[in-house]
Amino acid sequence: PQDVYLNLELSYTDLAPDGYTRKVWTANGQYPGPLIHCNRGDRLIINVTNNLKDPATIHWHGIFQLGSTWYDGVGGQTQCPIPAGVSFIYNYTVGEQVGTYWWHSHYLAQYVDGIRGPLIINNPDDPYLGQYDYEYVLTLEDWYHVESHNLVAMRLAQGYEAFNPIPDAGLISGRGQYNCSKAQSGAKCDSNNMPAIYTVTKGKKYRFRIINMSAEAFFFFSIDQHKLKVIEVDGVDIKEIELSVLPIHIGQRFSVIVEASQDSGSYWIRADIPKQCILNRNGTINNNSDIIHNSNITGILRYDDASNDTLPQSNKFNDDWYKKLSPCHDLDINLIKPYEAVAPPQKVTDQFNISIMIYGDSKHTTKAYINGQSWVPDLKNPSIMKIMDQNISATEFPINANAYMYDTEGGAVEIVIYNQNGGDHPFHLHGHNFFIIGMGSSGSPDASQYNLVDPPLRDTVTLPGDGWAVIRYLINNPGVWAFHCHIEWHVELGMVFQLIEMQSKLQQLKMPPSVEALCQPGYQHTKRLA
Ligand code: C2O
Ligand code: CU
Repeated sequence: PQDVYLNLELSYTDLAPDGYTRKVWTANGQYPGPLIHCNRGDRLIINVTNNLKDPATIHWHGIFQLGSTWYDGVGGQTQCPIPAGVSFIYNYTVGEQVGTYWWHSHYLAQYVDGIRGPLIINNPDDPYLGQYDYEYVLTLEDWYHVESHNLVAMRLAQGYEAFNPIPDAGLISGRGQYNCSKAQSGAKCDSNNMPAIYTVTKGKKYRFRIINMSAEAFFFFSIDQHKLKVIEVDGVDIKEIELSVLPIHIGQRFSVIVEASQDSGSYWIRADIPKQCILNRNGTINNNSDIIHNSNITGILRYDDASNDTLPQSNKFNDDWYKKLSPCHDLDINLIKPYEAVAPPQKVTDQFNISIMIYGDSKHTTKAYINGQSWVPDLKNPSIMKIMDQNISATEFPINANAYMYDTEGGAVEIVIYNQNGGDHPFHLHGHNFFIIGMGSSGSPDASQYNLVDPPLRDTVTLPGDGWAVIRYLINNPGVWAFHCHIEWHVELGMVFQLIEMQSKLQQLKMPPSVEALCQPGYQHTKRLA
């Protein structure tokens, strides 16, 4: 294992990911942000310099932060945000984890403006190592021309009801195409922006690491005339499954092996947003967006002997597998079998239910609720400070903290999640991955049907509209762990829960002074400087 040193400098850069130039919030001036690549067991020492006019944090999506909860990067939970003009060093080991992850700002909706990138942990003992020749990282994002703080302000405004903002474009690896005839006059815009191109050689095999880093979009991912052999889900190697179209919700990652099995030519890589996945609150389909009408978010898979200037003529899969998929839903949990099956906890020490809602109040201001509470970050006095400083008990924890505490080291938690909203919500847990032992689109859980033998292990599960899911995980990581819908607009509406794990153990750990220093009075944690 090695120490890996990196700098991430946050600043504004004018870029045109989809051809339309806007002020992008960047790390090291690039979008998507730099790829962080390390080996199993490495320590990452990442110096984040905040040259934005806003506070910022960085979260390492899927990394457990064993014993280092204060480096998890959740503004208002695990740290005070890094004020404008200040640098902060995240310093943690990736432990035994391997696979495909990502990093993003976890301060308000900032990642949607561009502060996000992939994080890959190389596994020297990868069971699939001999089965591919090269590897590529491929990210998927919805993209907006309006900055997120303005979108959020619109979202929260009276009368806006529950419309999610409608993306202007979709990106594959940071590249997309916008129809500039719709841009306001004077905008700098190029309708012929090149898509992302992946070059392959006939007969070779490629591992694509696919990451959905969106604010809101679910995708059906496919490559025309090339099957996808799925080998990894959210950092866990699985027994291979071959499919033509891959469903992927926000925060989720997959590795697929693609064999360059055609003779030559170019083929569309597709990331379709099914129109059912961007809905109005009343359940109707929002027809205001070209992106969901056309869903032509594309990249190109190009054989190395194919001509550079012809576009693919290939057709989309329309096979039985494709017809079987449900828009906005996860890959069937019965298909995902960990490569080395680990049995989930058979007994639990802590069990609780959470239920999710979204509704407008009498003023038609929409909020999201978990067990009736809508979470608001306390950026000046984050949960970690409260938990470390005083012996606070579950009942004393501030009412709108949306928190649940459990302390049984070596025990197990079961969470039964009820979705009382008609939309689908990709729920992501920090600090752990979890066994999904049951899931349903209707009815209620039946414990006799749980899979306690070989369920999938993931860190992001999509709750079907009006459905439920049951997850279990081991209590082994003291910390404050967010559990939230990864649709960023729902986070802003309060759809966030906090799991306070092993508080007494946590209090015996030593929080680095640099973390505490971020909360010093005089630092500006909430407002913009300009
Ligand atoms: Cu991608 Cu709370 O995280
Ligand atoms: Cu949601």
